[in-house]
Amino acid sequence: MRKPIVVGNWKLNGALADNESLVLGMLDGMPQLEGIDVAVCPPFVFVPQVARLADSTALGVGAQNCSEHDNGAFTGEVAASMVADVGARYVILGHSERRAMYGETDEIVSAKVKAALAAGLTPILCVGETLEEREADETEAVVRRQLAAVISGNGIQAFDRIVIAYEPVWAIGTGRTASPEQAQDVHAFIRGQLADHDAGIAQSVRIQYGGSMKPGNAADLLAQPDIDGGLIGGASLKAEDFLGICRAAA
Ligand code: G3H
Repeated sequence: MRKPIVVGNWKLNGALADNESLVLGMLDGMPQLEGIDVAVCPPFVFVPQVARLADSTALGVGAQNCSEHDNGAFTGEVAASMVADVGARYVILGHSERRAMYGETDEIVSAKVKAALAAGLTPILCVGETLEEREADETEAVVRRQLAAVISGNGIQAFDRIVIAYEPVWAIGTGRTASPEQAQDVHAFIRGQLADHDAGIAQSVRIQYGGSMKPGNAADLLAQPDIDGGLIGGASLKAEDFLGICRAAA
């Protein structure tokens, strides 16, 4: 049995006062959630604040990115060890917004996974196809290539400590969700690719779905056998919506 995991990705949103009321609202509903992992990923500068608010609670904290480098002359970058140092346990890597807007290649994402693992963080590795790729029937090829880079850079055993997030790019922030069947097909495909390397890892790795997941559609998605949680954007900015999704996963 895989433990469900629901993670909020705040993206470029937040302010000290708003974060406090959002996190306190989430913490209010946390005692009713059992048997799942829950975390939020604010922008870097707010990670220490949120880590402090969530200290000694079941709410985990993560970052939305980290450098593949450990230290040195990399202006504007933040190392995985620094993220861990201020209280984060997770880091989202390879999100499609970073791949598309900041030039992150499969190889860079793989190097970031390595840095995150070395710092003791749990990488949340995002994979997923664009609408154009889906329409060209390339979904499996794209996801296979994105995953293969991380397997070849880090070894299959690394997936013991990695969470995968399947996020069809066309469903992110669009209100257009993948159907439970569409998502399940790709999740099963991902598990199958891992099984070609190690059947045990394939069975134990948790695969989240991300892309316009909301309280109203979460239960159907989470009922699929290979969907183990959600990576939530917009709906993680309201405590009630986020908690609604968490309840559907618990
Ligand atoms: O990381 C989260 C995803 O990009 C999903 O975002 O829930 O706003 O569609 P969304």
